[in-house]
Formats: sequence, structure tokens, C-alpha cells
Amino acid sequence: MGLTGKEIVLGVTGGIAAYKSAEIVSRLRHSGANVHVIMTRNATEFIAPLTFQTLSANQVVTDTFEAPEYWNVEHVALAKLADIFVVAPATANILAKMASGIADDMLSTTLLATKAQILVAPAMNTGMWTAPATQNNVKVLKERGVRMIGPESGMLACGDEGAGRMSEPETIVGEICRILSRKQDYAGKKVLITAGATRERLDPVRFITNDSSGKMGFSIAEAARDRGAEVTVIRGSVTAEIPAGIRMIQIESARELYDAMMQKAPEQDVIIQAAAVSDYRPAEQKDRKIKKESGSDLTLILTENPDIAKAVGEQKKPGQTLVGFAAETDNLLKNAKSKLGKKKLDLIVANDVTKPGAGFNVDTNIAVLITSDGSTEEPLQTKRQLAERILDKVLEIRNKQ
Ligand code: PMT
Repeated sequence: MGLTGKEIVLGVTGGIAAYKSAEIVSRLRHSGANVHVIMTRNATEFIAPLTFQTLSANQVVTDTFEAPEYWNVEHVALAKLADIFVVAPATANILAKMASGIADDMLSTTLLATKAQILVAPAMNTGMWTAPATQNNVKVLKERGVRMIGPESGMLACGDEGAGRMSEPETIVGEICRILSRKQDYAGKKVLITAGATRERLDPVRFITNDSSGKMGFSIAEAARDRGAEVTVIRGSVTAEIPAGIRMIQIESARELYDAMMQKAPEQDVIIQAAAVSDYRPAEQKDRKIKKESGSDLTLILTENPDIAKAVGEQKKPGQTLVGFAAETDNLLKNAKSKLGKKKLDLIVANDVTKPGAGFNVDTNIAVLITSDGSTEEPLQTKRQLAERILDKVLEIRNKQ
């Protein structure tokens, strides 16, 4: 009974997969949730409202009652009531309406009004799913924090094969449980995270950089977002997929990162610096491409970049928690501990980037979490798991502050 007391609103739109939504309702009820179903007019052509009414033990809301006063009361009531709002199956049409804010029936009106987490399970013909218009709508919705599950690939009802099949009811219910069981221990906290690599330009076409993919920083950002934080990421160059529902500020060089940090840091509760920042930059940046001169070496003079973490540490506000990373190839603990002190950090995440499965551009990491009180070894795990451990540690530190 993991969902006892949870109010779940399920929007059902007109697709052949609508019959599978009956199983979603049934499974949710068995888990203890109270389910309210809203059906579009087209959905009622595929499956009778009575099925959902019987399974949910609640009145099903449809567009067959068109009286405006009924709409006004019901859509606001359900929009406010929802702990989570699920749309399954979601047609290309409802995705388009949601992306552009169209509210012309009971379901789209309620979706527009809700502040609850929305989870969407698309189901449609492959051509419709891959159409640039649909993909653009999906992108817009993801950027707004709407979660997507599926669609899966396989044989579709229309006879085509490809992506477009709704995820199985048990998978959708599993995702609902996962979302609703998350701890919200970062609610009301502002978290600033740096991610990715800086680039230091030599000339218009060449730069000095490193292998940071952004995976570590983005994993922390996603974990903090899911735990209720208001997250801002300042990102350099990345190859990892940009996470949804997170405010992003893009920078290129260490000096741009410095400027962005000086502007954003004062208003944060927690600052986590996972970006790989270049300690040096070319002393001179040429306006034109540097030309090859045969037979002679080229000497590059590098000048020091600002130490951003140190500058943030010097301006630390009361109640702030500062976390840095240390990417080391030797003397991991000694070097990391000296950075903890020099940069006035509360926590440093030391990763030995020579170890397989740790550091740059992999999905896993191995680290030691070091505070002034001691250290905790974090064995090989996904970057997302390590992100959760770092966030746990930050809360531990804050509870003692
Ligand atoms: O992005 P991924 O591919 O997932 O890789 C993850 C990672 C290896 C980049 C990450 O886990 C990591 O270790 N990030 C820190 C890399 C780094 O710059 O380490 P450092 O030891 O040189 O710097 C120590 C700390 O000072 C870091 O928090 C860094 O952001 C900061 N720093 C460094 C130099 C500088 N001029 N200013 C800084 O603020």
C-alpha cells in the first residue's frame, strides 16, 4: 500500500492504448491511491467511462457535461487536488495542446491549471512521434519539468513498427511510485552547481580544455531537483544530455564562470562546484588564426586564472554550504585536504581520475567525501548515486552548522 493517501489524477486521451489505462487505475488503487480519471471525448470512443468509474470508485470526468459552471468547479478542484497528474495514453494532440497552453476541453484545462508534477506516457504512430512538431513539443514540455515515460518501440496497432507504443501499465505505475516516494528534503533550498569544462581560447578556432562531460554536475543537479531544490547550473562545454526543468547559465571560460559565480553565489544556500576549471589561460588571445611557421617551435605563455572556489569561499555568506571537487592523479587525500582548507570549503569530493570507472566522461565515479571532521569512502557507483550521497552529506553538515 505504498500510495496510501495519494491523490492521482489520470488523463486518458483517444488512442488504442486507452484500454491499458484501466490496468493503471486498478494497480494504483491496489497500492492505496485515490484515482480521479478525466477522459477526452475521443477517449470515450475507445473505452467506456463506466470502466474507469468502476475501477476507481470515483465519478469519471468527461466532456459530455459541457456546462461551463461544471468545468470551472471540476477543473480547478482536480488541478489542486493532484499529488501527481498522469496522462496515459498521451496523443500527439494533447502534447501539442500542453506545449502551447491550449485549454479547450476538461483535460487540457485541468492540465494547464495544475501545479502538480505531470507524468506523460505518449502513445501514437511512429511517424507522428518522430515528426519534428511532436519532438519540439516534447522538448518544450521536458524543459518545463514535465516527465516523459516511453514510448516503447515495437509493433504498433496500426501495423507499423517503431517507437510509439505506450509503456506497460506496471512500468508507468512504478514510475509514479518512484516520483511520489521521493524525499523532498531540499524543498525551499537554492542550490547552485557548476558542470562541464571551461575553454580558454588561443585564437578564434583553437582552445585549451579538458575531458569533463558535465555528467557529474548534471547528476547532482537532477538529484537536487528531484529532492525539491530550486536548482541553477552554470555549465561550460558539455557532451552529456542537458537535464530538464533546471535553470541553465552557459559560460565558456574560467573568467566567465567567475563572473557568473560572483553574481549568483550570494543568493544560494548550497554551492557545489563540479566543473573542471582551467587553472591557466593563454596570456594572449589572438584575433586571427595563428599561422604555422615551418621550421620553428611555437611557445605558448599561460597566465593564471582566478581561483573561483577560493573567491566564493572568501565571500561565503552565513548559512551557506560550499562543496568543491578535487580531480587528482596522485596524493588524492593530501591534495584534496589542502584544497578543502585553501578554498574554505565545507566538503570536498575527491576523485582519483586515474581509476577505471572514476572521473571524466564516464557514468560512474569513485570518491572520498572529505570534511574537516573526517572522510567517507564512496566505492564505485553511478554518478547519480554519488550525487545523492553528496546531497545527504551536505544536509548532515548543515544540521551541524
Ligand atoms: O564532467 P564529468 O565528465 O562527469 O567529470 C567529472 C569531474 C571529473 C570533472 C568531476 O568529478 C571533478 O572532479 N571536478 C573538478 C575538476 C577540477 O577542476 O578539479 P581541481 O582539483 O582542479 O579543482 C578543485 C576545485 O576548485 C573544483 O571544485 C574546481 O571547480 C575549482 N576550481 C578549480 C580551478 C579554478 N581556477 N577555479 C576553481 O574554482
